[in-house]
Amino acid sequence: MHVRLAEGIDWVGAIDWNVRDFHGYETSRGSTYNAYLVRGEQTALIDAVKASFADTLVRNIEEIVGLDAVDYVVANHGEPDHSGSLPAVLAACENATLVTNEKCVGILEGYYGASGWPIQVVATGDGLDLGGKSLSFVQVPMVHWPDSMVSYCPEEKILFSNDAFGQHLASSARFDDEVGLPVVMDEARTYYANIVMLYGRPIAKALEAVGGLEIDMIAPAHGVVWRGHVPEILDAYSDWVRCRPRAKVLVIYESMWGSTDAMAHEVFEGAARPGVEVELLEVNRAGRTRIATEVLDAAAIAVGSPTLNMTLMAGTAGLLTFLKGLAPRNKAGLAFGSYGWAPSGPKEVNTYLEDMGVEILREPLTAQWRPDDEVLAQCREAGAMLADHAERAAARRRGPGGESHAEVRVHSLRIRLRPRSGRPR
Ligand code: FEO
Repeated sequence: MHVRLAEGIDWVGAIDWNVRDFHGYETSRGSTYNAYLVRGEQTALIDAVKASFADTLVRNIEEIVGLDAVDYVVANHGEPDHSGSLPAVLAACENATLVTNEKCVGILEGYYGASGWPIQVVATGDGLDLGGKSLSFVQVPMVHWPDSMVSYCPEEKILFSNDAFGQHLASSARFDDEVGLPVVMDEARTYYANIVMLYGRPIAKALEAVGGLEIDMIAPAHGVVWRGHVPEILDAYSDWVRCRPRAKVLVIYESMWGSTDAMAHEVFEGAARPGVEVELLEVNRAGRTRIATEVLDAAAIAVGSPTLNMTLMAGTAGLLTFLKGLAPRNKAGLAFGSYGWAPSGPKEVNTYLEDMGVEILREPLTAQWRPDDEVLAQCREAGAMLADHAERAAARRRGPGGESHAEVRVHSLRIRLRPRSGRPR
């Protein structure tokens, strides 16, 4: 199956309907591994797919051109979901030269040996003249690996953005406007939070680097192509790269015998008020993928765990380890939880929050055995404190200069096009 994006440009990737776990990210709607065929007088394949989908990719290319007509295979990124099929693709497309940057060459050598592969090394500002179509390359390091790169086709104004702007979303539709914005944006937000939140600053730089390009479509390496809602996704990224807080409070908790659960409900009651979104998220039922997504734009978080075996509960420890790695910014919060003879669980939660850079609003709220009325009142006060903070943070966000799209600065790129090789076809 292939799908036309523009004259001479087709999606030839693979749909993975069944993937549900992407190194710990719960991909409840599956995913796609997108590859694109760009045809001028010469032909370039942009990105490959996961190893297990190599046959699908080769078959999709063959629906359009013979494999011997593929002159270039552009690797924007070496992670195996995009490079796993490269050995098979390069074996099948025997006239193709691999085009990638130096960092990616090292990664491909590490994974596949890559010895004997014809490789053309490119860097930002380089391009390929395919005759009637061209591609230019921009390295976007740490979006989200050191080798990350995007390719741009100026004739059709399409940005092949690789992981950036992706969504883990399996669909027979190939375009955002065919799926509907709420679903696509929800998956784009989930993807951003769980895959690239740590790299907000490099992504902000990447947005600047492509800010001078005219873009009609953004064709990522996962999910659907943005063509109906390009301004919306650029605007959303402008907010997400800064973890811009909304008036939103999360109460995240795990409980053993109901005491920490009771405390969590009181924190929720204290925070709930008009104009503030408050969510109560039990760690194991909500799951870390959903919780990480909600943390992205929350202003304040309360995290609760009782003491179990002199430490915090394992589900909360796993969640906080995951969140610490994603390094969410602009959060305030507090720890809470019950204990029997040692309050080490909530204290360790507090340490995790400090390590994450969360602004701690008060010392850990604790209850021995069961929370009494005094502790429950303190929980409600703590909830109100979180809501107050969330309102202030949201007000600052709406302040002068807070318009997100104004911050994506325009930056002109000079692209050097490499002459066509003129290799016999
Ligand atoms: Fe979709 Fe970084 O791989």
